[in-house]
Amino acid sequence: MTEVAAKSLSAHVSGPLRGRLKPPGDKSISHRALILGLLSIGETEIEGLLEGDDVLHTAAACGALGAEVKRLGEGRWRVRGCGIGSLLAPRDPLDFGNSGTGMRLMMGVVGGHAMTAWFDGDASLRKRPMRRILDPLILMGAEVLSEAEGGRCPIQLKGASEPVPIVYRPPVASAQIKSAVLLAGLNSPGRTTVIETEATRDHTEKMLKHFGASISVEPFEAHGRIITLEGRPELRPAPLIVPADPSSAAFPLVAATIAPGSDIVIEAVMMNPLRTGLLTTLLEMGADIEILDRRDEGGEEVADLRVRAAALRGVDVPAARAPSMIDEYPILAVAAAFASGESRLRGLHELRVKESDRLAAVADGLREAGVQTQIIGDDLIVEGCGGEVAGGGEVKTHLDHRIAMSFLCLGLASRRPMVIDDSRMIATSFPTFRAEMERLGARFA
Ligand code: S3P
Repeated sequence: MTEVAAKSLSAHVSGPLRGRLKPPGDKSISHRALILGLLSIGETEIEGLLEGDDVLHTAAACGALGAEVKRLGEGRWRVRGCGIGSLLAPRDPLDFGNSGTGMRLMMGVVGGHAMTAWFDGDASLRKRPMRRILDPLILMGAEVLSEAEGGRCPIQLKGASEPVPIVYRPPVASAQIKSAVLLAGLNSPGRTTVIETEATRDHTEKMLKHFGASISVEPFEAHGRIITLEGRPELRPAPLIVPADPSSAAFPLVAATIAPGSDIVIEAVMMNPLRTGLLTTLLEMGADIEILDRRDEGGEEVADLRVRAAALRGVDVPAARAPSMIDEYPILAVAAAFASGESRLRGLHELRVKESDRLAAVADGLREAGVQTQIIGDDLIVEGCGGEVAGGGEVKTHLDHRIAMSFLCLGLASRRPMVIDDSRMIATSFPTFRAEMERLGARFA
């Protein structure tokens, strides 16, 4: 990756946010749309693809594996795939930039094909654990030819020539692990099963079905699922519409809640119940969110969210809710800073291995902003300031887009401006964040 200098940005107390916006396409679905396009024979047309850096890296990787990937217009893409079992071995290392999802899903694809590929990424991605993906792939017959210390990238992976179907129970609740195993299982002659004790986002399962795979999903214990995929399906290209990303909608949602007098509408946000934990939590805190016009868009339910500023109460978020809002804790912590009373966000160990150590980054950032915050075990405890957050510090973002956007949102409603050390990574998931938020009335400089 070519290194470009960090770009700091500050957020200043703004008037009320007003207007409408549609967040960009869902990041999880966008990666999967391209990958399933690669794995089917024929042309997949995608509408509403997120054109963020993370997804563009996955598009390039699909091209390196033999697909023809073409941008037809804004958010409109076409992938001409090669089909399961007929991919090309990439000549150069696959660079996933900042994207753990792109890398991990593609490791599943390569792990199930008789080919060797190098996987690499930026300084943040080089710190993230990949053993959780490599372990099941090794059980299926893949080999790790080279890796950096602790199962980090750069990694050279040799896929299985005859992938063995397995029954796998991921050690942590992770849609990325589940998806990597299922994607590898596509090229194995039999049934691949993933047992999850906590259900995680189900986009891979739903989209595989949409492309004609035979896949069943059964309940397992109190909160889990058993997913069984028949190997070697012939995936048929199917048109895809990518709904707006609830994880990106989270930023204007919280910004409008904490900036006094705000009243905005966030359009067509995906309401998949495995992604709506933040909405549930904000409603428990007393947020003023109306869910309007629920409808179907491309196989997912979407709705418009009308959000008005509201006084929030502290909240106790159970650990079991984490999979349905795993990427939303940084911005939820900002909401908790503006609430009255204490909030306790439980069971956040997985936040330690995201684009940054988000548990530490959030606690440090809130302290910079004058908010009392503690980490006890895996829980984050935030002493709410009842709408009066001091602000005024500089936050280290550690190459993490969600830390960057969360603290910019905080600065829109704190007494003094908030500065973030680097705004470049916002382009990985929400390239239009600044422009869209400014259109609603946010002040950045
Ligand atoms: C994702 C799954 C989550 C999430 C990530 C996207 C996906 O990671 O944090 O941003 O698209 O499958 P884990 O599955 O590792 O929790």
